[in-house]
Amino acid sequence: MAEYDYDILVIGAGPGGYVAAIRAAQLGLKTACAESRETLGGTCLNVGCIPSKAMLHASEFYDAAANGAMAEMGIDVTPKLNLPKMHDQRLDAVNGLTKGIEFLFKKNKVDWKKGLATFQDAHTVKVGEETVTAREVVIATGSSVTQLPGVEVDNENGVVVDSTGALELPKVPKKMVVIGGGVIGLELGSVWRRLGAEVTCVEFLDQILPGMDADVRKESNKIFKKQGIEFKLSTKVTGVEVKGKKAIVTVEPAKGGDAETMEVDCVLVSIGRRPNTEGLGLENIGLTPNERGQIEVDHEFKTSVEGVRAIGDCVPGPMLAHKAEDEGIAVAEWIAGETGIVNHDVIPNVVYTLPEIAGVGLTEEQALEKMGGDKKAIKTSKFPMMANSRAKTNHEPDGFVKVIAEAESDRVLGIWAIASVAGTMIAEAAIAMEFGATSEDIAYTCHAHPTHAEAIKEAAMGVQGKPIHI
Ligand code: FAD
Ligand code: NAI
Repeated sequence: MAEYDYDILVIGAGPGGYVAAIRAAQLGLKTACAESRETLGGTCLNVGCIPSKAMLHASEFYDAAANGAMAEMGIDVTPKLNLPKMHDQRLDAVNGLTKGIEFLFKKNKVDWKKGLATFQDAHTVKVGEETVTAREVVIATGSSVTQLPGVEVDNENGVVVDSTGALELPKVPKKMVVIGGGVIGLELGSVWRRLGAEVTCVEFLDQILPGMDADVRKESNKIFKKQGIEFKLSTKVTGVEVKGKKAIVTVEPAKGGDAETMEVDCVLVSIGRRPNTEGLGLENIGLTPNERGQIEVDHEFKTSVEGVRAIGDCVPGPMLAHKAEDEGIAVAEWIAGETGIVNHDVIPNVVYTLPEIAGVGLTEEQALEKMGGDKKAIKTSKFPMMANSRAKTNHEPDGFVKVIAEAESDRVLGIWAIASVAGTMIAEAAIAMEFGATSEDIAYTCHAHPTHAEAIKEAAMGVQGKPIHI
């Protein structure tokens, strides 16, 4: 049998890769992880989930002080923005967490191979100057920003930026255009709106947040408008011209029509992300990504090439850190000879705006489609946060919880929530669905009072036809 340097080499140290490496080492496999960045943690820890949440959280405090929400609770303050300090706390969070992964690698004896990895053959990978061989190689190279043809991102200049540039703007733009009403556009658009920018979001489709439940999309649009974000739906950007520290953005109706221009200080391009499958030497092992650039895998995360598996943003499925992490655990378990399971039907999705927007399972539209369009085959119920005592007391009236269940079996098919802590609430929904709960199960589960989570119970009671508080 061939002798390899390692049992497993993981390429990429994002939430997919670093978790796979740690779990593999925990299972007794000799493990290395290649990462070309200076720090571990991938997109998520360095320029994604973590720094964006640091800016979201800090800007919420500023906004609460500036917009009168604190005054409403008897706290009179006049806030003064110290943006460099806000950025420092963002970088502190990133540094602390990326160093934490370095510590976990050492603790678990995972060797970090620094450098860009390219396949020589299925078991041999060049990482920088070093050649590493492994019995199994896991590709966890993640994703990068999708470019908008004709629009050049220059994060250094700070006028036309992607999410990485938008996290570190040195000053609050007076006017900002966000291209794409998806997760990044709304999260980062909210940050700069709260810090004082006039934000216009240009979305190609007729509604924001594609993929979410239609009620949720409509209601969140209303909430963001109330917060001062302007929307140009069914609109496309046809050009962005940079003139010094300004950009002229030209837009026109998606179906064609009169063009309009806007002069702004910052343009955020956030129209999606694409898998990192180029430059990896996949051609050297005969692995061809699909037309979306993703690597196709089976339920054991095996690619079409023996000994090579793939996980995370570079394979099909939602591009989410927790999905990548769960696949990281599962792939290591398969390689160690165990059974690794990821239930791809129950992956929560959260937008960390204020209020947060979250969902798990099917949208009402998907549930209907699954039932062949028979409206009687599903039951839905919405409970408004306005009627939840904790949300009302905390001055957080916006949003609702919606439960979608199969009429015949009462089994929950999907749960959606708009609420200040919807991201935390949705964990309960995911557990319930993982265990195959009915809406009756949720309705008869005792929920602590007063909590936002009671709204999930009440929405489930609504499916049963008998909520208490509305
Ligand atoms: P990545 O995290 O992208 O990591 C891949 C790593 O591989 C990178 O570090 C890269 O340098 C390295 N790499 C690539 N090619 C090579 C090579 N050839 N050799 C060596 N190393 C290589 N998701 C959430 O679930 N929640 C959130 O709140 C959230 N917020 C986000 C905010 C922003 C602004 C962005 C951009 C993304 C956000 N995401 C969020 C998405 C999340 O970051 C990704 O889904 C997640 O990072 C994917 O993990 P991954 O391990 O597949 O890849
Ligand atoms: P997205 O896919 O969420 O949204 C992109 C939006 O841009 C869509 O609404 C799309 O219709 C629109 N669009 C596409 N082309 C356009 C064009 N030419 N003009 C105008 N609009 C256009 O992508 P986004 O926001 O860039 O985020 C990428 C991914 O990163 C997300 O899909 C998600 O997987 C991940 N992410 C997750 C977060 C979370 O979980 N909270 C936070 C941030 C990112």
